[in-house]
Amino acid sequence: MEVLTTAPALSSELMELEDRYNAHNYHPLPVVLERGLGVHVWDVEGKRYYDFLSAYSAVNQGHCHPRIINALTEQAQKLTLTSRAFYNNLLGEYARFITNYFGYDRVLPMNTGVEGGETALKLARKWAYEVKGVPANQAKIIFVEGNFWGRTLAAISSSTDPSSFKNYGPYMPGFEIIPYNDIPALEKALQDPNVAGFMVEPIQGEAGVFVPDETYLPAAYQLCRDKRVLFIADEVQTGIARTGKLLCCDHFGFKPDILILGKALSGGVLPVSAVLTSDEVMLTIKPGEHGSTFGGNPLACAVAMEALKVVTDEKLAENAEKLGQMFRARMTDLQQKRPDLITLVRGKGLLNAVVINDTEDSHTAWDICLKMAEKGLLAKPTHGNIIRFAPPLVIDAFQLEVCCDTIESVFLSYQK
Ligand SMILES: Cc1ncc(COP(=O)(O)O)c(C=O)c1O
Repeated sequence: MEVLTTAPALSSELMELEDRYNAHNYHPLPVVLERGLGVHVWDVEGKRYYDFLSAYSAVNQGHCHPRIINALTEQAQKLTLTSRAFYNNLLGEYARFITNYFGYDRVLPMNTGVEGGETALKLARKWAYEVKGVPANQAKIIFVEGNFWGRTLAAISSSTDPSSFKNYGPYMPGFEIIPYNDIPALEKALQDPNVAGFMVEPIQGEAGVFVPDETYLPAAYQLCRDKRVLFIADEVQTGIARTGKLLCCDHFGFKPDILILGKALSGGVLPVSAVLTSDEVMLTIKPGEHGSTFGGNPLACAVAMEALKVVTDEKLAENAEKLGQMFRARMTDLQQKRPDLITLVRGKGLLNAVVINDTEDSHTAWDICLKMAEKGLLAKPTHGNIIRFAPPLVIDAFQLEVCCDTIESVFLSYQK
């Protein structure tokens, strides 16, 4: 492994250990972390880094937020899991809290983001058969190219990325994939009366922070309305203040029919996801027809309520909006200094990406990330030539300027 040669002894040992016994389903940067607080993480040698990945936007509230950890530890000493075979004293309170918070009738609690996606699709299909009147087993879901919603068989069946779907077939039927940011393509797909739902990330995170045209999402929402198709927003990565509003859809003034949340719903403390929708859609699922042992557990309920309160109390959406503009201004300025290296800067709030002027299979973005790590800033390439920058939303203006200086110094001194 090329990554081990320059790493300090303890880190090297731990990386070797993981490499020897763990599945090789990831390719991490050669940094071994053991502690985190706010915008910082520390490696096993005690070196401090700014975290510009935030566990793929799961730690929007910052690492080990004291209020969230307090909610976790207090609840952990009382009751952690009952299963849904019984009521627990927090699920009702949580359900009222989160539905009011996001403005929906009902919530269905799950754990990981991908389970949220699966739940949303099951709801859309059930609603299509039982309310819309689609003939049995004919319901269709429309996805867009470049989508990412996880790793289950259904999720990879809708993927256009070969590294996600290759050699995992046969795939789930009933899915149609159309180009992203393409209203005529959606219009055409919606001519089929059996379409139940259109599932979309408002900004495509894993694909490389693709931001659609300003008019795309509201137009897509209106088309879905007109055709009685459910607009399913996958806000697992864009939601909960990341893009400068509570939800990314809030930038465009509409409310998705089905909303999927995950990641930062727990502040990165444990897997908590949620699907929010109307009575009409949610109540198509009856007792025994869907669920999860851990979904809605009291520990998750306590943590998620506190994690959402922190987002409001600390005005994280406002901070993301303000600092996101600062960040893009600095990166656009850097692009002018290194046009040979940077082709594009894009993003919303504190979900941003710098596109490197090289091919997807090049090492440039990886090498730049290694250099930034040496200087104490962690970011990770996506698709080879795109670097995503997504710090915890508790970062302040001074820290962001320091980080921009670090990024700038790496880019300016980088020799291709
Ligand atoms: C937009 C989006 N949806 C769903 C998921 C899946 O979440 P999880 O990894 O918690 O299953 C991700 C994960 O990166 C995501 O970015």
